[in-house]
Amino acid sequence: MTEPQQRYYITTPIYYVNDRPHIGHCYTTLVADVAARFMRLSGRDVFLLTGTDEHAERVVEAAAERGLTPIQWADRNAGAFEDAFRLLGFSNDDFIRTTQKRHTEKVESYIRRLNDSGDVYLGDYQGWWDHTQEEYVPENTAREHDFKSPITGKPLERRQEKNYFFRLSAYQDRLLKHIESNPGFIRPESRRNEVLGRIRTGLQDVPVSRAVDPDDPKSGWGILMPGDESHRIYVWIDALFNYLSAVDTDDRRKYWPAQAHVIGKDILWFHAVIWPCMLMALGEKLPGCIYAHSFWIREGRKMSKSLGNFIDMPTLTAYIDRYGLDATRWFLATQGPMGATDADFAHAKFIEVYNADLANGLGNAASRVSNMIAKYFDGACPDPTRWHGSPSRGEHAGHDWPAIATSAVENAMTRFEALDIPGALEAAVALARRVDGYIHATEPFKLAKDPEKLPEVGAILYHAAEALRIASLLMWAAIPAKVEDLQRRFGCEFNPGAAPLRDLAAWGGLTPGAHIEKGDALFPRADGEEAPPEPARAETS
Ligand code: MSP
Repeated sequence: MTEPQQRYYITTPIYYVNDRPHIGHCYTTLVADVAARFMRLSGRDVFLLTGTDEHAERVVEAAAERGLTPIQWADRNAGAFEDAFRLLGFSNDDFIRTTQKRHTEKVESYIRRLNDSGDVYLGDYQGWWDHTQEEYVPENTAREHDFKSPITGKPLERRQEKNYFFRLSAYQDRLLKHIESNPGFIRPESRRNEVLGRIRTGLQDVPVSRAVDPDDPKSGWGILMPGDESHRIYVWIDALFNYLSAVDTDDRRKYWPAQAHVIGKDILWFHAVIWPCMLMALGEKLPGCIYAHSFWIREGRKMSKSLGNFIDMPTLTAYIDRYGLDATRWFLATQGPMGATDADFAHAKFIEVYNADLANGLGNAASRVSNMIAKYFDGACPDPTRWHGSPSRGEHAGHDWPAIATSAVENAMTRFEALDIPGALEAAVALARRVDGYIHATEPFKLAKDPEKLPEVGAILYHAAEALRIASLLMWAAIPAKVEDLQRRFGCEFNPGAAPLRDLAAWGGLTPGAHIEKGDALFPRADGEEAPPEPARAETS
């Protein structure tokens, strides 16, 4: 039996199906995938959830433009998200769609509970509606932005409706207390401060429904308000519930509360304020952390449809075709906007990172070491204990390898736990880079000229190969296929999650005598190349 604290439930936003997937959706999902994979590697019982948010008004419009029903359009685009996520090698345990019965039934039951407790009530609402974002913009924000959407710049629409409301105001103090006493609840820190500042200005009750207007087909799409067929549940409320509905079954209940909801900065308010308060009203535990990353821009410019510079699936596919899936995942995972600033998808940076971390860092060190083992030891992993020049096992030329490796493992584990994915992967690749320095300092290729020094050469190559084995384990979550290839070449049986990471990564895992294969370069160097040409795009309908 796995202990409860060993469970790790991590989610991504569920994505609108009115449009095709692009780098933004792929990035958030990649972050969650890398974290989930690492936690599985550490022996945790992981559940990774992603999916699609399908009851948005824009789905009705997009479908109508193409002469389709909303569900036909949703099916098509949900499929596009699933294909994209398969292409990127994501390891999600489930893909929830808000049009599925398993979800809609649960949402009805949650709303019924909130109705019964008085947390949902019928009232009047007037406000500024942001059509693209499917949300009301508070009066002062609307005024500040000259009654245009703060996100898209399009004019806001004045809307008045009779609505069901959620009594958000009643939870202000409890929420504040929770955020204040759990510094890791909203991350990164700067986002937490933003949210705290805004909550302190006061929380107002929020609408959770929209009245059905028989003349407006858009209002007919969504989950009906239980007990009142003249209203439908507002898409954002419907969507947030997915995190709970997906695991609200006998066999999955154990996963709640989620350890982490990974989201983009654009949807922080819903996740950090409305969602926790709804959970409190339902008497459910709160998630461990809401992590809001920033945005990708491209070659220094904001991405937009009108500029035609969006990194969408054809562009990502061109990168995957040219540099490989793992290289693309590595770039996104290490250079992505996990902090409070946006990150730039620049081709030159891609090449720089690819060469530094993968071609030179891990790949070249692995080639050098395996070539020397082939040359001097017939491809059999040398036995480091045959050399008696080392003061203790694994210590040589100023490198205390077991200590260096252990500290890299602990460092990576701490950072992955904090969702500092770039920091964790840097700890891993730094270990691989040290191997290069060690070979440079000890020059085994020179020592090998003297047959008497072969035991020392063997020890050096063992240390180097073993450090690379451990470094690659720590990189596995980002670049699984390449690491599995490397482990196989190094004669290791590698079953992620079969043993706790600390055991897998303990110094001495390589077996002397095992066959070490030379093979081609794991990551061939990329030099002075142009970006892959912009692929032709198929029509979206
Ligand atoms: N359906 C809502 C979320 C409901 S969750 C209960 C939604 N969907 S979305 O399709 O618009 O996806 C939004 C998410 O995509 C952002 O939160 C972010 O995770 C990601 N990104 C969209 N554009 C992005 C970038 N340019 N860069 C990085 N991620 C961005 O909002």
